[in-house]
Amino acid sequence: MQVIFKTLILNNFKSHRDITVNFGERTDITGDNAEGKSTICEAPTYVLYGTDALGSKLDPTPITYEAEEIKVSLLLEVDGKELMLGRSLKKNKTIYYVNEVPSKAGEFNEVVEKLFDKDLFLSLFNPSYFPSMHWEKQRSMLLQYVTSPINKDVIKHMPDEQNKCLAALFKKHNLEDIKKIHAENKNTLEKKYIAAQSRTKTLQERLEQINISNVPLESLKAELAQIDKQVREKESLLDKAWEKNQAYNSLQAKIRNIQDQVEMSKEHWPLLKNEEIEDSCRTCKRPLDEESVTTVKKDKEIRIENYKANHEKLLKERAGLKAQLEEMEFIDVTELRNEIRELDPQGTPLREAIRIHGEFGRLQEQVKQAQTDENETLHSLNESIFILDCVKAFKAKEAELQGEKVQALFETLSVRLFEEQRNGELKNTFEIELDKKPYRKLSTAEGIRAGLELRDVLSQQSDLITPVFVDNAESITSFKQPVGQLIVSRVVAGQKLKIEGVDAE
Ligand SMILES: Nc1ncnc2c1ncn2[C@@H]1O[C@H](COP(=O)(O)OP(=O)(O)O)[C@@H](O)[C@H]1O
Ligand SMILES: [Mg+2]
Repeated sequence: MQVIFKTLILNNFKSHRDITVNFGERTDITGDNAEGKSTICEAPTYVLYGTDALGSKLDPTPITYEAEEIKVSLLLEVDGKELMLGRSLKKNKTIYYVNEVPSKAGEFNEVVEKLFDKDLFLSLFNPSYFPSMHWEKQRSMLLQYVTSPINKDVIKHMPDEQNKCLAALFKKHNLEDIKKIHAENKNTLEKKYIAAQSRTKTLQERLEQINISNVPLESLKAELAQIDKQVREKESLLDKAWEKNQAYNSLQAKIRNIQDQVEMSKEHWPLLKNEEIEDSCRTCKRPLDEESVTTVKKDKEIRIENYKANHEKLLKERAGLKAQLEEMEFIDVTELRNEIRELDPQGTPLREAIRIHGEFGRLQEQVKQAQTDENETLHSLNESIFILDCVKAFKAKEAELQGEKVQALFETLSVRLFEEQRNGELKNTFEIELDKKPYRKLSTAEGIRAGLELRDVLSQQSDLITPVFVDNAESITSFKQPVGQLIVSRVVAGQKLKIEGVDAE
């Protein structure tokens, strides 16, 4: 879009009672001090926004004379189409004109807003406007034309390892989220690592306190097995002896039993032997006949025979058992018992040593596990630290590339977009420098030159061409022809205000 100033008419605008400026491609405004050159610069912005050329509210009411109405009209040509805007102040009331038609403030402002952005227009029209804005505003205004480099382009410029790391992470998260995740991880892992270290240390200390025997576990086990074997052998002997003694005892009991029977049999003998043969009935006392007496005699003889056979049998049995007992032997196990009692406790220290060996082994395992945990935690921690470094490096590279992109727009100025903080992180900033000198330290001439370069860049980037007013141009010997109409004011001693619009041939 190209905006051209054609005509500016001032009525009672500050010191100007009635003046018409016909602009050319270049317009020279000359005259002595206080001739009203700068005032002319304020008039177009007053029409558009009611401000001076630096955007401050402006009351142009004349103070040196009476005036009923203050009026400024500006004839513009916007992309070949004429537009007449006017603003007047009458009895402290503002009246707006669009193409000479009185309009409401809202309508008027809408027309102006549709033309161009206020900050952009002021920046293009007045070379000292842009540097007067807040640095954040300057920065965002300039950067809106320079797209920030895409992730892929940034990591391309990073070392291989960082490039791979971020490329993988970008598949899931954006840079800020990656940073949040790993800052949090780092925090947690740092604590976890300290805990893991102290666990390893505690276990190691416990391990060191264990008094493990120098004798290898296998030897201890072999020695114990030897003792156990001996004990078992002796116990088995003990069992066998016990069985034998058991049999011996039971045989003895049997003999005692038969002995008792023999005694009883012996006691019975005199009774049987001396038993009388009766010759009369026991109850009726009638004499028994001979046959009966013979029968009774026979019966006694049979019983005596039976008794003798039985007694004989008992004696034989007793003799047999006694002979058996003769063959047997009662084993005395006292010695064997003592041997076992003496042998068994020899295993106790060995068992204890083996138990300690076991405990030592288990603790060693725990130490190993704790060391593994510790190493894994450290590994994850280092990974997060590395990722955070990548994020930092990414930002630095992104800033560098963006800085280069912005820098490429300028010929003599350098632009600083970032500032490194003490912690190494980048912070946004905005500084325009000429030969390493910040804008605010420049001389008037340097400032004008810097301002013109800046506004030309903005003009190119925004595709908006507007007039530019270079005030106090006497302080500068020469400057590059800016893009758009040029309006220059210069002090010429002793000269009345002179305005010359010059068009190119
Ligand atoms: N509101 C006003 N009414 C009348 N005169 C003013 C007003 N404001 C400023 N002036 C005067 O107008 C004159 C022109 O000022 P200026 O445009 O800055 O001159 P120049 O830029 O040519 O040196 C000065 O003498 C200034 O004091
Ligand atoms: Mg001036």
